Parts: sequence; structure tokens; C-alpha cells
Amino acid sequence: MKIAIIGGGPAGLYAAILLKKQRPQAEITVYERNRADDTFGFGVVFSDATLDNFEKYDPPSYRRITQEFAYWDDIAVHFRGTVHRVGGNGFCGCSRRTLLLILQERARELGVTLKFETDIDDEARFADADLIVLADGINSRFRDKHIDHFQPQVDLRSNKFAWMGSTKPLDAFTFIFQETEWGPFIAHAYQYEAGRSTWIFETDAETFQRAGLEGLSEQQSADRMAEIFDWFLDGHSLMINRSMWRNFPMIRSQRWVKDNMVLLGDAKATAHFSIGSGTKLAMEDAIALADAMAQAPTVDAALQTYEHGRREEVEKTQHAADVSLVWFEHVDRFWDFDPVQFAFGVMTRAKAITYDNLTLRAPEFVREVDTAFAKQVRSKGFDVDIDKPAAPMFQPLRLREMEVANRAVVSPMCMYSAKEGVPGDFHLVHYGSRAIGGAGLIFTEMTCVGRDARITPGCTGLWNDEQQAAWTRIVDFVHANSAAKICLQLGHAGRKGATKLMWEGMDRPLEQGGWDTISASPLPYFPDSQVPREMDRAAMDRVKQEFVAAALRGEACGFDMLELHCAHGYLLASFISPLTNQRTDEYGGTLANRLRYPLEVFAAMRAAWPAHKPMSVRISATDWAAGGITGDDAVAVARAFGEAGVDLVDVSTGQTVRDAQPIYGRMFQTPFSDQVRNEARIATMCVGNITTADQINTILAAGRADLVALARPHLVDPSFTMRAAAWYGADIACPPQYLPGKEQIFRNSVRDRQDFEDLKIKGKPKTRAELKAEATKPLAAE
Ligand SMILES: Cc1cc2nc3c(=O)[nH]c(=O)nc-3n(C[C@H](O)[C@H](O)[C@H](O)COP(=O)(O)OP(=O)(O)OC[C@H]3O[C@@H](n4cnc5c(N)ncnc54)[C@H](O)[C@@H]3O)c2cc1C
Ligand SMILES: Cc1cc2nc3c(=O)[nH]c(=O)nc-3n(C[C@H](O)[C@H](O)[C@H](O)COP(=O)(O)O)c2cc1C
Repeated sequence: MKIAIIGGGPAGLYAAILLKKQRPQAEITVYERNRADDTFGFGVVFSDATLDNFEKYDPPSYRRITQEFAYWDDIAVHFRGTVHRVGGNGFCGCSRRTLLLILQERARELGVTLKFETDIDDEARFADADLIVLADGINSRFRDKHIDHFQPQVDLRSNKFAWMGSTKPLDAFTFIFQETEWGPFIAHAYQYEAGRSTWIFETDAETFQRAGLEGLSEQQSADRMAEIFDWFLDGHSLMINRSMWRNFPMIRSQRWVKDNMVLLGDAKATAHFSIGSGTKLAMEDAIALADAMAQAPTVDAALQTYEHGRREEVEKTQHAADVSLVWFEHVDRFWDFDPVQFAFGVMTRAKAITYDNLTLRAPEFVREVDTAFAKQVRSKGFDVDIDKPAAPMFQPLRLREMEVANRAVVSPMCMYSAKEGVPGDFHLVHYGSRAIGGAGLIFTEMTCVGRDARITPGCTGLWNDEQQAAWTRIVDFVHANSAAKICLQLGHAGRKGATKLMWEGMDRPLEQGGWDTISASPLPYFPDSQVPREMDRAAMDRVKQEFVAAALRGEACGFDMLELHCAHGYLLASFISPLTNQRTDEYGGTLANRLRYPLEVFAAMRAAWPAHKPMSVRISATDWAAGGITGDDAVAVARAFGEAGVDLVDVSTGQTVRDAQPIYGRMFQTPFSDQVRNEARIATMCVGNITTADQINTILAAGRADLVALARPHLVDPSFTMRAAAWYGADIACPPQYLPGKEQIFRNSVRDRQDFEDLKIKGKPKTRAELKAEATKPLAAE
């Protein structure tokens, strides 16, 4: 077999090593345009987990790499004169040059041919090769040559960055967030060998301009950075090596394989440097390719296996990198945070590290986070304990005069079980048990303001006395038997009305017994859905009055809070999104126009709803569709509602149009809550694939939301919050009938939690930094 590898970076060299080990007879050549020791950049970083992989696949190169590595365990966050250190991270740094020399040496040993100073510009010269590996890096000539086939998407990010080096020793992966007269600068720095550290500087485009960095030479900009960070560099200078300022390209390729050619490493996909995974991805691509080549009967089949088997993992890493880079791009959102909360945000930005996880490895840090959170709550007039602070989830919150005892919320969920809009016994048990289960706040399902405002024949309503009486019974039960507050969500289905019950065909039009629908514009949801009538002014007035009448009935029922549903493509949402609003009058066109009617309805309800009771609005912060609402629009929407007197924005997403492309994942809507909360400066509730109390605490402690709602988890577990309270040892109300159960679960939780933590600590392999520290510990210290 003949294999040609274009590019002698980590991806190309490691692929050569693994393929040669597998097929000693194969003729494998790596073509590299640079000289053997001619490499730009300074250090690379790997996690312990990545090194475990290298150990498994090629022990000799692994041993040499790890002999050369600098190890560290801590991440240090410097912000506004403070430093917070968190241990247990297990990272290793190595010079990129050393890494490449080790891989070159190992490849040669195995019999790979390395051809340096050989710039390849045409794959035709490898017509006789069985496999051509395109590992030619981020600016891949071959990916771009076959652009129509590989279909790369290049998302050039807005921040500027430059990669430099220094002789400054560092004993932790160091983030420095530096205020300057021009704006914020960030340094990501780590030591990669004795007396050598990598420094990546990052800033936003405006700060870059204001700081006069445009047009400076590499040396001049290094001098400027050295001035800004001189308090930390202690007289160590900054070194340059092709250290020009650039914008990071996030690259995703639609296809990775063409005939017998395959893209590897940065050529196929990149991951932002803030999660330090570029070289890891490149070398793990090589591992995946080698695995596929070992198992599949033909090269063709192997390349298909590689692409299909590897894509999900790469996309997961890219998603984490995206979340991380967005955090750094918007660091100004958090600039006025308490430093410990800021540091917590840095640590947890990419979802892998959480509140519980940090509690295990840095309990003092988490205690400081809890204390800072509790102090903020105390500053709002709550008499909470700051010496032994409860976890953020169990801190109270006040909206107007309504106080919720904890921050866990039952999200609105249609039960599709009402008769003519009247909630029945099912609803009493459903809401009642969730209130007793401990959630601080319960939302009703979307309760419709008129018969023709319903989504389905099973939706609840609040337009007549019978419904009002039924809701009063539920509200009274909640208030009499729990500490939970209950919020009424009012909505109008708009063009999604007259559809089937969820389990009979979500959003599908009713075949019989339907009613006429209305919307901002006459656009059907599905092509075969009913075409809604475009609302005229008379319809607008009628529906507005229905909302007001339902709000007044809600007050009569005793609800503590009111939410206006402006999300998910229902009537009011259909005005806000340009995808569903094509009006040419003053209710269409600009966002301000599209918001006019929803704001009018809100204002009328706000005027009718008691001033001491809070109101929220639910929005879809993105339509997940081209031309639709984006996070930036959501900030403007939240601001407009904020000015109209909204106390909380319930940040959901999507469900506006059928062809949306949501990116699901754990806590997938939380970044939108974060953006709305910290840009519009308004309280938010986040929701969406949040399933654990750990996630709730992580979100709250990082300042990404004020309340956290869970929908589906509450369907199967009404006592979610009670269980979490037992786990964290937090105070929670419980009806006297259930006290023996509460006492038992609290008692058992102490032991269960201790067992769990012991197991986690025992089960956790030592990091390489810990092992090295043990190996070098003086005997006298034993
Ligand atoms: C600022 C910054 C910081 C980073 N920090 C880290 C980090 O801490 N940890 C980490 O893991 N990763 C880091 N990376 C990413 C890392 O550098 C890359 O992801 C990794 O090197 C990708 O490996 P590769 O083999 O795919 O590409 P490269 O390392 O780019 O290798 C491609 C090779 O192909 C050669 N080549 C290109 N075209 C041709 C041609 N036509 N003919 C012959 N040869 C050719 C090039 O000369 C080059 O040697 C960082 C990147 C940047 C920009
Ligand atoms: C069965 C069901 C019914 C729902 N009904 C409503 C509703 O009436 N009003 C609303 O705003 N959202 C509704 N939603 C959306 C949820 O409130 C929530 O935003 C969504 O399920 C994501 O949260 P989760 O991942 O915790 O389930 C419903 C969700 C489910 C699963």
C-alpha cells in the first residue's frame, strides 16, 4: 500500500506513525513544505485524558512526549486585583517544536519517509497512491481546491488574537483579564517547558483599534502587550514568532472525504484556542483514521467509517469551543461581576466543569462563590445565612412583592387534558404534587384567553366563571399546602391553533371540530395547515381585551404572578418574528414595529394586574432559522419589555417555523438567557435540557440566569426540588403529612453524599501533575 500525507504537523505525522505501525510494508511518505525544525508557535497543551489516549496508541512517542512536558494542575484567574486558583485540572504543556521533533523521530524509526521543504500543489502526482491524507492545516490548499466538494464553512470570529511567548515561569494555566484605558485585554498563558511560556492575547476589535494595535509591527505590538501586562511579567519580555494579530476561523467542513483523499486536523475543522484542543483533535483524528483503516476491508470503506464515526466527537468539541469563545468575546458582560463569580464563570463557561465538580476539587473556592451569592441576596433585604450559605438554588428571590423560597421552577407545560378549557382533577393533582415537591415557583400551562385562542381542544382557558372556579381551587391548594408561588401563563395560539393533542400529532391541524385561526400574517404553519386570517385592528382590540379579562380573572383566582406568552410561534410571537410577520402596516417591518402589538397587550395587562405582583414575558430568543430572531434581537425585545414594566424574561427559543435548525445539547438555551440578562440587565429565567440540581447551581452561580425552569424532568419527578434540597442539606418547606419522609431522605442524603464523594475521589485517577509531585517529594516529607 502507498500512502501520501501532505502536511507534517501533528495530524500528518501521527497518522504516519499509526498507519506505519499497522502496515509495516506500506510505503508512507509525509510531505512538508517547511524545514524539519522550522516551526512557528510556542507551546501546545494536552489534558491528561488526551495523553491517556496517546499512551494506548503509541507508547514510545507517548513516553518521549511526557518526558518533555511541563505539568500543572491549577487554573488561575486574575481579575481586578484578585486571583482565584482551582486545582485538579490535569494539564500538560509542551513546546510545539519538541512535539514535532519527537513525532518526526518516531516516524523515521518506523520507516516513514519524511520529505521536508516540499511544497505540494497538486495531488495528481500521487495518482498511484492508495490513500492521500490532507493534513495541510488551517489554510488547507487542498480543502479549498475542492471547495465545492468539501464545502467548508469558515466563521471568522470577531475578536483579535496573537500568539506570543515569554520566559516568565508559570505554575498554573493562567487567565488574566486586564482592564486598560482602551478596553479589556485577555491573556491565556501557560508554561510549556522550563523557563518558557505561551501567551495568547485576545481582545475585541474596538479595543484593538483604540489601543492603536492596527498597523504595528509584531515587535511593536509585543512591546505594547508587555507594557499592559508588565505588572505580571516581572521584567520578562515577550517573544514573537509569526505573532501577527488575527481573527480565529471556526472551520466546519460538510464532507471530509473525496475519493481516496481525506481531510485531517485543522484542515477539516478547527476548535478555538481557549479550550486548547486543536492539537488534540488533530492527533485524535489520526487515531480515528488508523482505527478505521485497521477494521474496514477497503480504503473506501475505511474513509467512510472515519468520517461517520468521528464527526460527532469533533462536533461536540467544536460546540464546547464555540461556547467558550463566545464567552471570551462577550467578557464585557461580566466585567462588573464580583471577582469570585467572574472566576466561577470562567471555569464553567464550556459546560464540562460544574458546581458539584468544583465542590469536590476546590471546596474553598465554591464556598467563596456561595458566600458571594448569599451576600448579593442579603443585599436585597433577605436575612440569609452568609457564614454557612445555602447553595445558589436554595437562595430566595424577590420579584416586586412576591418572594420565592428557592430558584427551581416548574416550567409551563400543556397537559392537553382540559374539557372546554376547564382544568380538572388531573390538573389539581399535577400542580398540587409539584408544589408539594418543593419547587419555588410553578407555572401553569399556556392558559388560553378565549375558546378560539386554544392550541388544542384539551388546552386550559380562563375566559369563563367555570374555568375561574377550577383554577381558584388549584391556586388555593398550592397556597394552603406548600410554600410554592404559582404563576399563570396566558397565551393565544395564533396560527398554531385548532391543532391535535400532543400525543395525536403535535401542531397538526384538527380534522374535525376545529375553529378559525388568526395570526400576524396569513401564513400557514405546515403547508397543509389552516391559513390564518391576518389580524385587523378590530381583532387586535378584541384579543387585547381577552388578555386583560383573563388577567383580571387570574387575579381573582389568587395567582401570584402573570406571564405573557410571546414565544414558540403563537399569536404574539408571530408578530415579533420577521419570519411570521410580513405586515406592511405599523405592526410589521422593523423590530420596534413588530413589537408594537405584543407591547400594547402587555401594557394593558400590566395596568389591570395589581402593581405589587410581578409579570414575566416568555420569548423565543432565537428562531434558529435564517432571517429570524437572533440573540441580539432578543436583547432588544427584553429591553422593550423591561421598559414596559416586565420583571422577568423567560428565555426560551424556537418553535417559530418548521424548518428551524436548533442546536440541542445540555442547557442549550442558557447562553441566550446569559446574553439577555447580562446585556439587557434584566432578571431572566432559563430553561431547556437542564436536568440536574448541579446544572441549576452552575447556571445561577455563574450569573447566567436568576431562576431556572425545568419542564420534562418535572413530569416524571414532582419532588425534584425536595430531593435536591436533601442532597445539598438545604432548608425546604414540606407539608406536615410528609415530614417523616422528608426527615428520612435528608438523613440518608448525608450518608449517600459522603459515599458518592468518597467514591468519586477514590475513583479519580491521579493527574500527571499529582503523580510527578509525589515522585519528586523529598523523603523526609513522607
Ligand atoms: C493561537 C493558537 C494557539 C493554539 N494553542 C493550542 C494549544 O494550546 N493546544 C493545542 O492543542 N492546539 C493549539 N492550537 C492549535 C494547533 O496549533 C493546531 O490545531 C494544530 O497544530 C493542528 O494540527 P494540524 O496537523 O492539523 O495542522 P498544522 O499544525 O497547521 O500542520 C499543517 C502542516 O502542513 C504544512 N503544509 C501546509 N500546506 C502544505 C503544502 N501544500 N505542502 C506541504 N506542506 C504543507 C504546514 O507547513 C504545516 O506544517 C493553537 C492554535 C493557535 C492559532
Ligand atoms: C409536554 C410539554 C408541554 C409544554 N407546554 C408548554 C406551554 O404550555 N407553554 C410554554 O411556554 N412552554 C411549554 N412547553 C415548553 C417547556 O416549558 C420548556 O420550555 C421545554 O420543554 C424545555 O424545557 P425542558 O428541556 O426542561 O423540557 C412544554 C413542554 C412540554 C414537554
